[in-house]
Formats: sequence, structure tokens, C-alpha cells
Amino acid sequence: MPEINRSLEHVGIGFAAFLAPPGPEVIRFTVGQPDFDTPTPVVEAVKAALDRGETAYTRTQGSVELCDAVAEHLTIHNIKVDPEDVVVTPGCKQAVLYAMMATLDVGDEVLVLSPAWPSYDGMLKLINAVPVHVPVNRKNYHPDFNALEAAVTPKTKAIMLNSPNNPTGAVYTPEEVARIVQFAIKHDLWIIDDMIYATLVWTDYPYTSPAALPGGAERTLTVGGWSKGWAMTGWRLGWIAGPKKVMDGVKKINVSAATHVATFMMPAATVALGLNEETSMMAASFKERRNLIHELLTDLPGIVVPRPEGAFYAFCDISGTGMDDIEFATRALEEAKVQLIPGSLIEGGAGFIRISYATSPENIREGVRRLSDWLNSM
Ligand SMILES: Cc1ncc(COP(=O)(O)O)c(C=O)c1O
Repeated sequence: MPEINRSLEHVGIGFAAFLAPPGPEVIRFTVGQPDFDTPTPVVEAVKAALDRGETAYTRTQGSVELCDAVAEHLTIHNIKVDPEDVVVTPGCKQAVLYAMMATLDVGDEVLVLSPAWPSYDGMLKLINAVPVHVPVNRKNYHPDFNALEAAVTPKTKAIMLNSPNNPTGAVYTPEEVARIVQFAIKHDLWIIDDMIYATLVWTDYPYTSPAALPGGAERTLTVGGWSKGWAMTGWRLGWIAGPKKVMDGVKKINVSAATHVATFMMPAATVALGLNEETSMMAASFKERRNLIHELLTDLPGIVVPRPEGAFYAFCDISGTGMDDIEFATRALEEAKVQLIPGSLIEGGAGFIRISYATSPENIREGVRRLSDWLNSM
């Protein structure tokens, strides 16, 4: 048999090992998706589009209405893009990959504030670019600017941003984002801004886009999508927007790779962006659960957890328990019947566990009670 692509040897499988569905007796704090159904108007819109027979090839970057709706939606975050420079992708994940493909050459280095969503690492390795992991401040998971400066080399080409963050739940302040833009200008870097959790923010300052700040728009690729804020993970819909020069490249990649997302989903995705009541209700519910889980977790012995600022993850320092994170997660599953993600599955996450609180308040109470009984019985 011929050899396969050698880059694949270095591509990990992220959290997969600890995401396997357990038995019904286990409380799952692992799944990073909303526990809501997709809002009804969106489902109705896709059915209507199918009934209208919208099943043929269409405009590759996304329908005019949908690209207009994405550009309009981004103005909420003070991001101004020409709808011509918007491409709708099969999930935000594909948008991130397109952003990397359109900006990076083989061997280019990308600063990744770590711990980070593990797929960035896999994607960069797939295209033979080099992730350079720069640890965030371990106390609050915000950027460490000295560490960022120290990580720059002549090969550094981009910085990856993700705020609100998976796995840490951190939301970077407007001042921090402004410093990142200045840093990117100083070193002439692209900024790939993964704003998939932008509508799930629990701080008194909002998600801040680097594209909305002076000097930021011309070097920022904004990627996001419907999965988290609209409860549409399985629809596989995302967007990418940015300066014309690079978006022309993204369009070429999209035409070569995906052509376009399903035609009949485009009107539904447009409807989704017009919703407010449904999305606000989901966000408010996650905020309440954030309050609940944080209050409960702070009573656990040996565990330190800053108040999650956004998304639906609590990132806990478990080093005070005397266990490493793999032992903690393995034993929590076996002994307490709670499934968690151990941080060392990703670069920079050793000594931490990730808890997704996108589960019912009953599950949150019961899961933390089990962890408490287990830890206190040691
Ligand atoms: C930070 C981050 N970006 C992107 C994605 C992927 O989004 P999508 O499902 O739209 O591809 C995820 C999903 O977990 C994520 O956590």
C-alpha cells in the first residue's frame, strides 16, 4: 500500500478520547453544545425551502440575502464588512481552516493563546504551518503579553484569537484586544478571530472584535457561525469575513473545497440571524447556569475556578487535589460517575479540567454533588 500523508502523524484527535457517550448513570460535563433544540422558525424555514424545491447548486459564497444578513449581524459587534466579502462555510470549523489556508505558507508560525480549542492545532499541522503555543495567565486565563512578545520569530505570520474562549471561558477586555491589535500591527501579523461564542458573554464588557479597532480591520479574518449561539451545531454552518484581498483567496478555496453549504439551509440561516427572543432566552439560561455551577464548584476541596466570563465552560485548576488531570477525569468517571475533559489533552492545559455547563440545572447540581462526595471521601 502507498504511504499516506505524513502530516497526519502529528494531527491529534483533541478531546475525542473523553467524549465517548457513557452509560445513562453518568452525568456528562463534556459536551460543548447547547442543550436546546434549534429555534422553531429556523426549522420551519428549512422545511419551506425544501418544499419550494431549493435543492440545486447556487451562489457559492452563500445567497445574497444570507451574506447581507451575516454582514448586518456583524455590525452588532461593530464589524463592518462588505457582504461581497462574506463566505458561508460548512461550520465555523471550516471557516477557521479557510482562514489559515488563505493566510499561511508552509512553515509559517501561528501564535495560539493556550490552552486553546484543540482543532486549531490539528488544522495548522494539516497545512504544514506551525502552532506556537503561548500560555495565558494561569490565574484568569487572559493573555500574557510578555509571553506573546517572547514567542515572536521572523516566521510568525498570524495570531489566533478566541474570546469567549473554549476551554477557559475567558472573555478578553477591550483593552486587551486593543493591545493584541497593536501587537499584530507591530509584527505585521494576521489576526484570525474565532468569535463563535460572541453572543454568550457574561461580563459587563462585550465581546470585542479586533476588526472593530483602529488598524485591525485590514489584518483580521473574522470567523464564527450559528452552532453555539443559535443551537445549530448539526447544521454545519459558519461564516468568514475579512479584507477583500484575502477573501478573494477564501472564495477560491471554498469553490475548490465545498462549493457551498446546502442551498435549502441558506434561507433558514438568514431567518436565524433575524431572531432575538429565542437567542436571548438561551444566552440568559446559560448565564444562570454559569452562576449556579460557579457557586457550587467553589466549595469543592482542592479546586480553584475563576468565574467563567463567557461561552459555557468552567476551567478548573485541580492541582490542589494531588491528582493529575488524567487521573482526576478517569477516576471521576469511574468513581463519581461524572464525565469531564482532562486539560492535558491539549497543550497548556495540564493540571486543569474542563466542565461544560451546557446541561440542565438538575444535572449541574447532581454532578457537582457527586464530585463533592467523591473528593470529600478521599
Ligand atoms: C472555539 C471553537 N471554534 C469553533 C468551533 C466549531 O464550530 P462549528 O461547529 O460551527 O464548526 C468550536 C466547537 O466546539 C469551538 O469551540
